[in-house]
Amino acid sequence: MLFPPTLLNRLRETRHLVVLTGAGVSQESGIPTFRDALTGLWARFDAEQLATPEAFLADPALVWGWYEWRRGQVLRCQPNAGHRTIAELARRVPRLTLITQNVDGLHERAGSPAVLALHGSLHRPHCADCGQAHPLPDAPSALPDGGACLPPPRCGACGGLVRPGVVWFGESLPVEVWQAAQSAAGACDLLLSVGTSSLVSPAAELPVMAADQGALVVQINPAVTALNAVAQINLRGTAARILPELLAQAWPDDDAMPAPPAQEAPCC
Ligand code: OAD
Repeated sequence: MLFPPTLLNRLRETRHLVVLTGAGVSQESGIPTFRDALTGLWARFDAEQLATPEAFLADPALVWGWYEWRRGQVLRCQPNAGHRTIAELARRVPRLTLITQNVDGLHERAGSPAVLALHGSLHRPHCADCGQAHPLPDAPSALPDGGACLPPPRCGACGGLVRPGVVWFGESLPVEVWQAAQSAAGACDLLLSVGTSSLVSPAAELPVMAADQGALVVQINPAVTALNAVAQINLRGTAARILPELLAQAWPDDDAMPAPPAQEAPCC
């Protein structure tokens, strides 16, 4: 794909780039998205039974077992060329703010520092009562596809139930993370939205904020989404294919991408 010169110039000259990612950026690592028909997690599982505070109160073992299955799944997957290109972009531009809706930790494993994780992390559970962090072993229990009932551990400080470290439907985003994301969207000159359906608020508001203050908003997605009407440039394709090509065309004289780590597997 040949990218528009406006985009390549803006990328080379940007002073503050915001990259906003969703589940699509991890799809080529083998991690299912949420809303893709048939394969999406919310096509196979009921979000109301698994991703709300009420669900956890009603059946902690069902919810904990499902999130532990997901944690095991993402730990077996590797970052892909999309994650790695975003980490590389941070070395090319004066300032990059990476905001993700993902809870899989793959951006961090690809080498992106200081990720603003709007929806928390599968890897940082905490006590549902007192909030104390609860470290987990790197290797979760082996669980069948879709998980199995598994009682959550108890908090070492107060004995309360430990819950997954993700933001559930009906809960607020972590305040400082959201404030940092808003201020980046309000100050950037280029925002790349990668692999998100742009259906979940407040994350979906960030590209609109960026566009309102004059930033160029660019979307990378194989499908048409709610963002198509807002983004000035819509690049149809997958993250692991488009992002490295974009980097190579913006900086054609450089070795565009570091080689993937030797142990990288295409999917888990
Ligand atoms: P969705 O599942 O809603 O959307 C995934 C998007 O990725 C879709 O628009 C796909 O077309 C696109 N996509 C699929 N494969 C891709 C690829 N290889 N490269 C690029 N794009 C691809 O996921 P999110 O938008 O991330 O919230 O969902 C937002 C939130 O809804 C999630 O963080 C989660 C969910 O409920 C919580 O868990 C709180």
